[in-house]
Amino acid sequence: MCSTAVGVVYTPVNHGSRLPFDRQNHIVVTHKIGMGFHTFDPDNADRLEDASRFRFCSREELLGVLGDSQHLVDLGSGTGFYTRELAPFFPRLSAVDIQPEMHELFGERGVPDSVELVTASSDDLPFGPGSADAAVSTMTIHELPLAETLAELQGVLQPESPVVLVDWSADGRGEAGPPLAERHPLSTVTQALENAGFTVCRAVDRSETFFITATR
Ligand SMILES: C[S@@+](CC[C@H](N)C(=O)[O-])C[C@H]1O[C@@H](n2cnc3c(N)ncnc32)[C@H](O)[C@@H]1O
Repeated sequence: MCSTAVGVVYTPVNHGSRLPFDRQNHIVVTHKIGMGFHTFDPDNADRLEDASRFRFCSREELLGVLGDSQHLVDLGSGTGFYTRELAPFFPRLSAVDIQPEMHELFGERGVPDSVELVTASSDDLPFGPGSADAAVSTMTIHELPLAETLAELQGVLQPESPVVLVDWSADGRGEAGPPLAERHPLSTVTQALENAGFTVCRAVDRSETFFITATR
């Protein structure tokens, strides 16, 4: 069931392993690359740490959906720009990224104690059934194998878990972010969520990004 705090009810429409740290909490699982669109190039990672990105998604709007969950999974955590913002609010936060280089860059900026770096593909998560109770993904959905990732998330999340997906929209202005041709339209992602058994609560296109909340 969707949280009433969300406010708006969505109506469906048709439409080379190099381990950076000897950290106990660094889990390495798979190294599959590229099943969505273009995978983000670690050489451009500085762009991910640009504070102007809060123009497109804020910590507060993510927290407003994720509530007081115990184990948050961040799909495609990158350098940890948003992960670090969210970390103080969750006892456990699994930062999942397929590229060890991204975790290395995350580590250079500091990994909060509650965060575990998980090198895995989003469609092959190393968590037991129902072991997490919230999921977030920022600016990454277009890089992921969408249907497979959402099916995997279904298995990992407890019932009623909140999910928030924010990404560049194919119906955006194209003034920032990846090329429009590499983005999903809002409807593709909401349909994929419903196909995977999620209940979509809110789905909006903004000027450049979409914002979708759902529950398991
Ligand atoms: C554009 S970056 C966004 C990073 C972060 N979410 C942010 O907003 O700053 C996308 C990240 O997703 C990761 N990624 C791409 N495909 C993935 C997959 N199948 N599983 C897990 N992570 C993946 C990339 O390595 C990259 O670090």
